Amino acid sequence: MPQASKVLDRVLVLEMVRVTEAAAIAASTLTGRGDEKAADAAAVEAMRAALNELDMDGTVVIGEGERDEAPMLFIGEKVGTGNGPAIDIALDPLEGTTICAKSGPNSLAVLAIAEAGGLLNAPDVYMDKLAVGPGLPAGIIDLDRTPTQNVEAIAAAKGVRAQDIVACVLDRPRHEALIAELRALGCGVVLIGDGDVAGVIATSDPDTTIDVYMGSGGAPEGVLACAALRCVGGQFKGRLLFRNDDERARARKWGIEDLDRQYDLKELAKGDCIFAATGVTDGSLLEGVKRRRDKMTTESVVMRASSGTVRWVKGEHRLQR
Ligand code: FBP
Repeated sequence: MPQASKVLDRVLVLEMVRVTEAAAIAASTLTGRGDEKAADAAAVEAMRAALNELDMDGTVVIGEGERDEAPMLFIGEKVGTGNGPAIDIALDPLEGTTICAKSGPNSLAVLAIAEAGGLLNAPDVYMDKLAVGPGLPAGIIDLDRTPTQNVEAIAAAKGVRAQDIVACVLDRPRHEALIAELRALGCGVVLIGDGDVAGVIATSDPDTTIDVYMGSGGAPEGVLACAALRCVGGQFKGRLLFRNDDERARARKWGIEDLDRQYDLKELAKGDCIFAATGVTDGSLLEGVKRRRDKMTTESVVMRASSGTVRWVKGEHRLQR
């Protein structure tokens, strides 16, 4: 259990929820409207405005992209009033832009904070990810082993057969061989269209029946998912994947020297951290925003690594008073 951070104590845990709620509500006005960019822009603007009301000296370490490609919430942008503790922020105002545009499951507004230096400054490249929930022996998963070896190790630790294991994988052509290998073992494969933050977190919730998350997705989403797993328990392994020299250069720019390194959960999200998310659309983790005549309802979760406390927050927001 990491030591509770006095720095994070000064940023009210529930304030984090206010920030993700604002982003989710803004995005929800565009749910199912087929316009990913507009939904994302609405969430970004609302999250930025809510963050800027908080007394903190916040720095975005994982955001909407680099300064030249993202007008708001870019990496390195300062947020908050500046009067308060120095904290690092990883955010995704709309995780699952396509899901939101199509009104599919599991789009979220997501935020994680840690003391300065606590979150890996992951560049916007892919990351190979492997995650399991709590209660398994340490070191049970390893990206240097084959999917079959990992599934067999998890099955042995759980006292079940390999074919009883359920894996969650992003439905992408690049995962064809992985899916074929898992199916050859007889595993259940839950294919998700998007949204691997929720996919990774699902391994920590027995109700989802998902035992393991496998495959590549965004590295920033990997760090956000790690902040959540640090709070609820579980194991994660991640390795950055580079498609070209430009991506390698970007990683070096953010201080990453060993490009082939296999990162562990605590290397991606160190020390005490707080993770908050609000559902935009209904999903395995949270209900989405519900708009009614006179009010909207939201469901959020906020959790902290040092205490392991998980708070579920239902919000009612009047449309007119
Ligand atoms: P966006 O919210 O940026 O659209 O990301 C959705 C997502 O599915 C992530 O959850 C995942 O990490 C990433 O995209 C996977 O990338 P790709 O769609 O290129 O496979």
